[in-house]
Order: sequence, then structure tokens, then C-alpha cells
Amino acid sequence: MIEPSKTPEWSALNADAENLADSHMRTLFADDPARFEKYSLEAAGLFLDYSKNKITDDVLDHLIALANAVDLEGARGRMFSGEPINSTENRAVLHAALRDFSMRDYFVDGEKVTPKIRAELKKMESFASGIHSGGRTGYSGKPLDTVVNIGIGGSDLGPQMVVEALRPYWIKGRRSFFVSNVDGQQLTDTLAQIDPETTLFVVASKTFTTQETMTNAESARKWFIDNGGKDVAKHFVALSTNRYAVEAFGIDTDNMFEFWEWVGGRYSLWSAIGLSIVLQIGFENFKALLKGAHLMDEHFRSAPLRQNMPALLALVGVWNRNFIGAASHAVLPYDQHLLRLPAYLQQADMESNGKRTNIDGEVVKHATGPIIFGEPGTNGQHAFYQLLHQGTDIISADFIAPAISQSETGDHHEKLLSNFLAQTEALMLGKTEKEVRNELREDGTAKPQIDALAPHKVFPGDRPTNTILMEKLTPETLGALIALYEHKIFCQGIVWGVNSFDQWGVELGKVLAKSILPELSPIAGSKPEAANHDASTNGLINRINSLRSQ
Ligand code: F6P
Repeated sequence: MIEPSKTPEWSALNADAENLADSHMRTLFADDPARFEKYSLEAAGLFLDYSKNKITDDVLDHLIALANAVDLEGARGRMFSGEPINSTENRAVLHAALRDFSMRDYFVDGEKVTPKIRAELKKMESFASGIHSGGRTGYSGKPLDTVVNIGIGGSDLGPQMVVEALRPYWIKGRRSFFVSNVDGQQLTDTLAQIDPETTLFVVASKTFTTQETMTNAESARKWFIDNGGKDVAKHFVALSTNRYAVEAFGIDTDNMFEFWEWVGGRYSLWSAIGLSIVLQIGFENFKALLKGAHLMDEHFRSAPLRQNMPALLALVGVWNRNFIGAASHAVLPYDQHLLRLPAYLQQADMESNGKRTNIDGEVVKHATGPIIFGEPGTNGQHAFYQLLHQGTDIISADFIAPAISQSETGDHHEKLLSNFLAQTEALMLGKTEKEVRNELREDGTAKPQIDALAPHKVFPGDRPTNTILMEKLTPETLGALIALYEHKIFCQGIVWGVNSFDQWGVELGKVLAKSILPELSPIAGSKPEAANHDASTNGLINRINSLRSQ
């Protein structure tokens, strides 16, 4: 494997960063009137403007050369052809196959998987149509108008984010709840709002062994029975790769929707894990979501890197992370319905590229995935943007907005969009001390006050942002947007030399929690003094136990 930081392309990028250190993005814009046209492109219903990054033609040339040096195009081909690129788990990575509406076939280990994908989609369609038509009811004959999705991580964030994003597409009268946390309060709060006669519990877990999901599913089943529920089979379905565990839990495999090892948890909303989406917005809209993603897949697999949206977004991200020094990246949707997109991308990106060893098991010599965070605009503006504008760290950001709102209300959307545009302009331009002083003078501020205030009112600017624009947030454009990020993450993983498709980093905590669990006191109970851990952990266990025993 090629260590990217040892390549001449990496050195060239280091030199670019040094050369550009004293030029402000203001100057780059002033010097090149064609900058916007040059550094923007359209694909699959999305428009990306990446001109407000501190890049030049040289930088882009060197980034593309770096992508070629690590054979990004070859890796892309290997992913789409079903090779086991998830090397530590020996698995293919074929979420794109789940949404491929062309006649293309996909193979894993010599087995054609396309028929399985189509059959499962059909099963989801027919199940949902039974629920929607009222043909499939609960135990008392009432329609199942409520869904409680029980899952965590990829088995929660994707469906939840999509359901929230596509509110106007909700089938009238239907409700969806998402329970993920092992904190029983979330389940209790949800159960207080639902009726066992009309609720379908969708237990979503790739492995069907995840502690949080199994605990919530058991408690939900107990509540169902304790509250007069009969015929559990009518009210519980499973979405999983693990037939054996589904059966062991007591769910009939007829009520199981299957997906496969080659679908990563955080890439699984296109699979059976999307059943909660189908139930809330209908199969046709789910299909449109898949089609939007497929359009982006087609663009990604065929466009040359210089005109390839996911590759460019990834490479500009590499530039910001490794050469500009942005250790954090903000995802800022200017659409309230994209409320859960930052959380969704936190898992997609940080669980994929938050890695310190390369594919060969060596510790990498360069920074990998950034910290991802975000909130919808304009809320974030009144919370953490201060630090984006004037903090000591450079933070890169994606600003995402539809030109037309899903629900245009008076002039709200123009106001939202004016903020959306103003923020990237402000982050790029900044405000010089001279400008600040002139402004204060024009306002009639006295000289001593100007001297005192001016430094606080200076904005350095030169802060990198991407703008992602779409006409409207629809199932198609949402599908394309998610696929754009999936492929961006893939490209960055290839450049950084990490395996973006495993997640060993979540294991240690899980194992330690298992050993701590029996040491914790039940409420009003007692347990022997803890002595098996470090002093801090022992001390905390003992303190918790003493508080719970009272
Ligand atoms: O946190 C680790 C993880 O394995 C995620 O990758 C996954 O999305 C989540 O747990 C849930 O896993 P499962 O779908 O198997 O319950």
C-alpha cells in the first residue's frame, strides 16, 4: 500500500499550502472572475460550489495526481465489482447494488446477488402495501398505523434521518417513532404515546445481537403482552442478516426482511433497514430515493475525477484536513427537515474514517477523518458559528440548501437562504481591521472606543466552505445527497489508506460494559465493593452503587 504522505504529490500539496499561506481567498476571487464557473459542477440533481476553498488549479492538479497515485479509480472499480475491499472482515462493499436500477448484475464470491436484492424489495413492497391497505392488521383487526423502529447506529440514524427529511411525503395518518438508546426513558416515553392494538414494532439490527436493540425489543414485547397485546407475530418484524438470532428471539422468519454481510450498517438504509421508511412514505417514494442515489452512483462510477462530484468533495476535504489543518468539519443544512443529517453523517464519516492504522496495519503518518458536527441553519448561527468565524481553529463546512422549501411559508425561505449565502460569503471574505475602523468611524464612534473595539470586530475570513444546492428536497435529491457523502467518504478512505468499512473502535467499550454490568447494583439493591478496575472506575462504581442502594 502507498503511504500517501511519502508521495511526491503530497509534497507538491505541502508546497502549494506554503505558497498560498499569504494569499487570502478574497484575492483568489478578485484575481479570477471565472472562479465560480471553474470550481462548481452539477450531477444527479445537485449543484456543488467548491470555489470558496483555498484552492487553485495547481492544488486541484496535485489533488487529482494524489488520487491517481493511490489508484482511486482502481479502488472504485474494485468496490463496484464486489471485491472484498473490507479486508479486515473479508467482505465486499456493495450498498450501491441495492439501488442499481440498470440491468447490471452484481456478484459476491461468484454468487449473483441481484435476484436476492429484487426479491427482498418485492417482499418489502408487498408487506407495506398490506399494512397501507389495511389488509394486514393488528391482533384486534385494527389497522397498524404506528411504527416503532427499534435499532441503533446504522439501524436507526439512516431511516430516522430520511423519514424526518421527507415529511411532506408521509402517508396521512401514519406515525413513526425511533427508539435507539438503551436508556429506558426513550422506550418508556414512546410507549406512553402508542396503542398496542395499532403498533408494529420493527426490530432493526444487522447482527441481531446489539445490546441496546435486544434490550429495547425484549422490553417492548413485554409491554405489548402486559398491555393486552396478542399474536406477537402480527406486531413484531425483524430486519437483519442473522436468521438464526431472529428465530431465537422468537420472531418468525416469515416476518423477517433480510440483508447481507456486504451491506455495512451505516450504509444500510437502502436495504431491508429501509422498511420503516417504506411504511412512512410508501414504496414508490422509497424507490425514488433509491433512484436518486443510483443517479449519483452512475455519475461517480463514470465521471473523470476532475468532473466527479464525490471525488472532488473528498479531495477538497483532504486538502482542508491535511494541508490547511482543519481537524473539524461542519455539516450545516439550511433545511429544518434535514435536522438529523449531521448525526447521520457523524456515523457515516467518523465510524468509517476515524482510523489510525492503514490497510496494512501500520500506524498512519497523516491525519485521517475529521470531527463531524453540525446543526441546521439558522439555529447553529446563534450557537457555535462564533467559533467558525473568529475561533483559533480553521473549521471547514458544507452548507446545504434547497432553493425551494418543501413548505414555502411567506418569506421565510428567502430569509433562510439569505443567511445561508451570507454565511459562506462572510467566512470567505472576513472583515479587515481597516474596514472595521471605517465602519465605526462612519457610525460616529469616538477614537478611543474604536481602538478598543476594532480588534474584536475583525474577521480573518479565508475559511473554507462548500455549498451544496438542490432545487427542492425530494426523495430523489435526498438519495443523491446521501450517495454523494457515501462516495466522498469512500474516496477519502482510499486516499488516507484506511479501511472505511470496519469499526473495531467500538468494541472495547462494549466488552468492558459487559464486565461492569454485573457489578452494578439494581435499584435499592446492593453489590460487593468493586475492586477489579482502576481506582477511578472502582470508585465510581462504588459511588453509583451507594446512591442506588438508598
Ligand atoms: O456501533 C457499532 C455498530 O456496529 C454500527 O456500525 C452499527 O450501525 C450499529 O452498531 C448497530 O448494529 P446492528 O445493526 O448490528 O444492531
